[in-house]
Amino acid sequence: MRIGILGSGLMGGKLGIIFARAGHEVIFSYARSYQKLERLAKEGKRRARAGTPQEAVQSADALLLAIHWSRLDDVLKQAGDLSGKVLITCSLPMNAENTELVVAHTSSGAEELAKRIPKARVVSAFGTVPSEVLFGVFETKHKTSRSSLVYCGDDARSKELVAGLIRDTGFEPVDAGPLQIARYLEPFALLVAQLAYEGGNGPELAYRFEWFGK
Ligand SMILES: NC(=O)c1ccc[n+]([C@@H]2O[C@H](COP(=O)([O-])OP(=O)(O)OC[C@H]3O[C@@H](n4cnc5c(N)ncnc54)[C@H](OP(=O)(O)O)[C@@H]3O)[C@@H](O)[C@H]2O)c1
Repeated sequence: MRIGILGSGLMGGKLGIIFARAGHEVIFSYARSYQKLERLAKEGKRRARAGTPQEAVQSADALLLAIHWSRLDDVLKQAGDLSGKVLITCSLPMNAENTELVVAHTSSGAEELAKRIPKARVVSAFGTVPSEVLFGVFETKHKTSRSSLVYCGDDARSKELVAGLIRDTGFEPVDAGPLQIARYLEPFALLVAQLAYEGGNGPELAYRFEWFGK
């Protein structure tokens, strides 16, 4: 597949490299410096390159949205037309101070996106353990039991594609249902992040996550 990365930070950078090494064609876009995008592309080896958000969108079958919620308007403006694209979002709708969700309970960030870009096919993939956990994914891929990664969405074909990407990153995809499930999972994702950063106990966190997935 051709995958456009919109936001090449911790999430986008790491997942893009994994996707490229798994054999997908990846375009890294949206960072504060173009050199960083080129460096990521080099790490992703032959199947990755740097580009603008618009280039990432134009040639992509699927897009990964991995930006802070406050950057959303800017990214969408630079990205251009997202009609028909599978947009996988892991962006939590947090305020600028990262202290609380600005969208949740009655709606989710993914649902907001789906309303704002009605012609895109939005899939929410989040509730993930923080990206540090992904660092050893390739080394642990041979293990028979894999941690779960929850995703949800309304479009069966998009979800099939996303499940493949989740497998490629070393997780077991767990279909949580329609997009509206995202509104219940977003507060949970926050709790997971808080446990990870304040609890200092990664393995236990991964276990809790897997248990939740089942
Ligand atoms: N990190 C995780 O483990 C994790 C897990 C689950 C969900 N999430 C969610 O995923 C989203 C992204 O997280 P992240 O940790 O990947 O964030 P991040 O590391 O801050 O990445 C954000 C990206 O946006 C770019 N950016 C920020 N301001 C910009 C500007 N003015 N112009 C151009 N590019 C700009 C950053 O550029 P630079 O690369 O130059 O900094 C970076 O590439 C967040 O909503 C987060 O809550 C993260």
